[in-house]
Amino acid sequence: MIELQRVGLRYGDGPEILKDVNFKMDQGDMRFLTGPSGAGKSSLLRLLFMALKPSKGLVSIFGQDTSKLGGSNLPLLRRRIGVVFQDFRLLDHLTTFENVALPLRVIGQKPDDYHRDVMDLLDWVGLKDQANARPEILSGGEKQRAAIARAVVSKPEILLADEPTGNVDPVLAKRLLHLFLELNRLGTTVFLATHDLSLIKQAKGQVLRLEHGTLKDETL
Ligand SMILES: Nc1ncnc2c1ncn2[C@@H]1O[C@H](COP(=O)(O)OP(=O)(O)O)[C@@H](O)[C@H]1O
Ligand SMILES: [Mg+2]
Repeated sequence: MIELQRVGLRYGDGPEILKDVNFKMDQGDMRFLTGPSGAGKSSLLRLLFMALKPSKGLVSIFGQDTSKLGGSNLPLLRRRIGVVFQDFRLLDHLTTFENVALPLRVIGQKPDDYHRDVMDLLDWVGLKDQANARPEILSGGEKQRAAIARAVVSKPEILLADEPTGNVDPVLAKRLLHLFLELNRLGTTVFLATHDLSLIKQAKGQVLRLEHGTLKDETL
């Protein structure tokens, strides 16, 4: 489902951020990605979301070599992936409800079909009262929860999350972890970058550590 072979990455003619990264995930796998700030975790997630192409090596998503994708293939594949960006990327002209419902609207569902599910999800992440609020008035933690709800609402085949609990307290972090685990149990492949060791311990997940451009298996 996800495969990286001898992947190298540099931005322009800058230093090599990733040197020789190899890893593979099958459907239903879950991995945590750790490593110091600046190690390249967000960059690796960008490769998996096909927002970047590798400078070297192969990135294959859903069995397709991402360097060969173009035209309408890319958005179609991206629809099968839910992403929580480190900087949230909510749309300011939409309400919280509309932001979260967007992936369903994009695939042609009507508000009557998804209203209930979206409200239930907002309730689960503690944002029911903010459903009609615009993102600009939400706190950092609330924006993060809205971004997570949007990433999981369509039950994507792959979920990529970049420090998804970086702005919430430990109780809420545990609740959000539950959401990721539940999605994983239902078959979603989950790849989660985090500094939060307690989260990793709670999930007993398989851990990859990115440092000096290479990836090591560091399962606790
Ligand atoms: N768009 C970019 N252009 C140039 N350099 C970048 C860009 N994005 C990230 N970098 C550099 O790549 C390195 C890894 O960054 P990043 O992937 O954000 O690491 P992490 O998420 O682990 O903190 C850093 O040195 C950063 O400055
Ligand atoms: Mg980062």
